[in-house]
Amino acid sequence: MIIYLYFDNTKKKLSNKEVNFLFKCIKKENQYCNLYNGEWVTNENTISIYSPIDNSLIGTIPSMTKQDIDNIIRNSKAAQILWGETPVSKRAEILHKAASLLDERAEEIAEVLMREIAKDIKSSLSEVKRTAEFIRFTADAGKHMDGEAIGADNFPGFKKNKMSFAQRVPLGVVLAISPFNYPINLSASKIAPALVAGNSVILKPPTQGSISALHLVKVFQEAGIPSGVLNTITGKASEIGDYVVTKDEINFINFTGSTEVGRHIAKIAGMVPMMLELGGKDAAIVLKDADLNEAAREIVSGAYSYSGQRCTAIKRVLVTEDVADELVSKMLEQVKKLSVGHPIDGCEVTPLINDSSVKFVQELIDDAIAKGATLLYGNKTEKTLMYPTLFDNVTLDMRLAWEEPFGPVLPVIRVKDMEQAIEIANKSQYGLQSSVFTNNINHAFYVANKLEVGAVQINNKSERGPDHFPFSGVKSSGMGTQGIRYSIEAMSRLKSIVLNIDEP
Ligand code: NAP
Ligand code: G3H
Repeated sequence: MIIYLYFDNTKKKLSNKEVNFLFKCIKKENQYCNLYNGEWVTNENTISIYSPIDNSLIGTIPSMTKQDIDNIIRNSKAAQILWGETPVSKRAEILHKAASLLDERAEEIAEVLMREIAKDIKSSLSEVKRTAEFIRFTADAGKHMDGEAIGADNFPGFKKNKMSFAQRVPLGVVLAISPFNYPINLSASKIAPALVAGNSVILKPPTQGSISALHLVKVFQEAGIPSGVLNTITGKASEIGDYVVTKDEINFINFTGSTEVGRHIAKIAGMVPMMLELGGKDAAIVLKDADLNEAAREIVSGAYSYSGQRCTAIKRVLVTEDVADELVSKMLEQVKKLSVGHPIDGCEVTPLINDSSVKFVQELIDDAIAKGATLLYGNKTEKTLMYPTLFDNVTLDMRLAWEEPFGPVLPVIRVKDMEQAIEIANKSQYGLQSSVFTNNINHAFYVANKLEVGAVQINNKSERGPDHFPFSGVKSSGMGTQGIRYSIEAMSRLKSIVLNIDEP
């Protein structure tokens, strides 16, 4: 049951002023609430969120019940009607305000992010600032999502007396589900395009990452998003996930997370459109004509930043035998320079999100060692802090050749030539991105054209940004395309009104 959070024991409805004050109190007492119909609410059940850095308590979030979810969905459905009729220019204006507020609070929010997901402070700040730019760009792109008028007489058998007016209209209620590794950016990259398209949004943030995401939502609320247009549901997906994704009133599911969960949602959700951004095993293919210094630098930064907990992290290196020794020695030099430790000190390799992640990464390391891979560096762990680990001579019978560790470990697989590199790259169940390092433009395009992935980077690590580029995965890496314009298109539809003119 949803109740209003109150200061004393009387239940009362709060004014906006009190709500603002309340949010501050909540922050002070580390007791966070959900946004429901423009108010910060909770119920009796809470979940404690601890920092992966030192296990200190960051705060509590409500554990929403199925009944709470029903209320929220009803409210989102009702609120969408007016929002869908609100002029796009007005929606865009509110998003611009949200972007400015986010910029103003960037440092404060980055601190929360850093503590909650152990992302180094520089990357945390850059996630918040990037998100402000994302929201701004989305607001402007939304204003240019024009419809079109289509004549009929170019289709055989039709004359000029028919015309379709095709306009973009919202889908209704968008359910946004974000992962722990970018709780601010990958929440906003669903919320902002959905809102500018006229949808209402229900955000289900990752449990570890909820507090950061609620700060983002607070910014949208203060910017003037009307009551009910943006609501949140916190709670463990293991308890409420299946329930929310199967609600009939949800008109679009925008999910980023693991392949396992994405597949599960796609199976149970039924006939609802969805975008799935899932796991990856991005390969860096290094050919003999590459600039090996540049390749080594890019690969190491791509593989180990945020301890490899990025869907686009480089997760395997396929290098031709003729340059493998040289590349590996340059990579090793770079790996040794990585800073390891506390996120506040700006270290690149920081504690993993939880113990079970550490256990999984260690299993992959142990399997590689048992099967004869050459351990060049690392394989050292202190609590959840795993040191960067580099393997050479990884072979195709090892789990590390195929599975996504989501941790700071990188396998080098030696191949005889470009063709074998392509073959192994494409054998993966994943198809998010790949990199190819070569100074031969013909080789670069040959490889890029053959790879079964959403995007190929030539002479660069794999990465999603800039955020208006199309970003998508094939095979087990997902379906649908995100990227500002593409996200707006995905969360709206073309509705046609056909004008039929009688000849006089
Ligand atoms: P995850 O375990 O799949 O969780 C992602 C989100 O889904 C969380 O909010 C989680 O909530 C929720 N969830 C889990 N089960 C659900 C269910 N049955 N119904 C509805 N929601 C459910 O992934 P993660 O560990 O946070 O993120 C790491 C994975 O995400 C990696 O595989 C990575 O490659 C992938 N990823 C992909 C992209 C991309 O763009 N391709 C970007 C980032 C991450 P709880 O937290 O409450 O469990
Ligand atoms: O973790 C998945 C993100 O979509 C990756 O984004 O390439 O900017 O780190 P990024």
